[in-house]
Amino acid sequence: MAHAHDLQDLDATASTLEALDLPGRLRLVAERYPGAVAFSTSLGQEDQVITDAIWTHDLPIRIFTLDTGRLFEETHALIDATRERYGRSIEVFFPDAPEVEVFVRDRGHNSFRASVDDRKACCELRKVKPLARALQGVRVWITGLRREQSANRQGMRVLEWDEGYGLLKLNPLIDWSLDEVVAYLDEHDVPDNPLHAQGFVSIGCAPCTRAIAPGEDPRAGRWWWESSKKECGLHRVIAPPSARGTQEHS
Ligand code: ADX
Ligand code: SF4
Repeated sequence: MAHAHDLQDLDATASTLEALDLPGRLRLVAERYPGAVAFSTSLGQEDQVITDAIWTHDLPIRIFTLDTGRLFEETHALIDATRERYGRSIEVFFPDAPEVEVFVRDRGHNSFRASVDDRKACCELRKVKPLARALQGVRVWITGLRREQSANRQGMRVLEWDEGYGLLKLNPLIDWSLDEVVAYLDEHDVPDNPLHAQGFVSIGCAPCTRAIAPGEDPRAGRWWWESSKKECGLHRVIAPPSARGTQEHS
């Protein structure tokens, strides 16, 4: 359930967060919302930076991933390598098995190629619904989104209100460049996906991700057969806090 207080605080908290470094941003929300902060990781480069910061600073923030059932082998190996490196486990959420059984029986295994609507139905079943389950009881959802990643993400701020889920969304790397992300991974010796070295930038499900050529748009390798916006429905476009009224949510 949404807390009116979370929304009213938004602008002031966002300004405070903007001035902090990564551990400072994470610590502030962990202290202000004890037991109600969770980070969703896709094991991407940005996500590995955030996982490192949470676990090396021993912050009380849950870390979970959505295993769609169609991930790369390399991504599974990285989940294990990350567990070994930090001695802690990422929570793994799967889609509802009976629903997947019916879906695949009726539409086949690769129905996502048929149309954008079919693709979105697969993402809904395998990612969006499990995300809603993972976010139960959460007041701050942390993501690895960066402005540079796509045109859709350019208007995003470090802290936003997600109307759909009724919670705050912290994007602590929103203002980071890819160079900064890579430098952090090197400096802190953080494990990352070997697919990055093979030209994969943004990595999602195996049948829906390809490598990109140098100079190509970073998201060109996701759902490359589609021409519309390359988003899976996890992240809705949200008005920046300053453009919003102070509605009451309870
Ligand atoms: S997506 O919308 O295209 O799938 P992208 O791969 O750019 O998203 O990842 C952006 C952020 O969404 C990640 O930093 C992470 O917080 C979240 N995310 C994406 N996919 C997953 C996943 N499978 N499990 C958990 N979080 C995810
Ligand atoms: Fe299905 Fe592809 Fe979406 Fe993964 S990215 S959930 S395989 S449509």
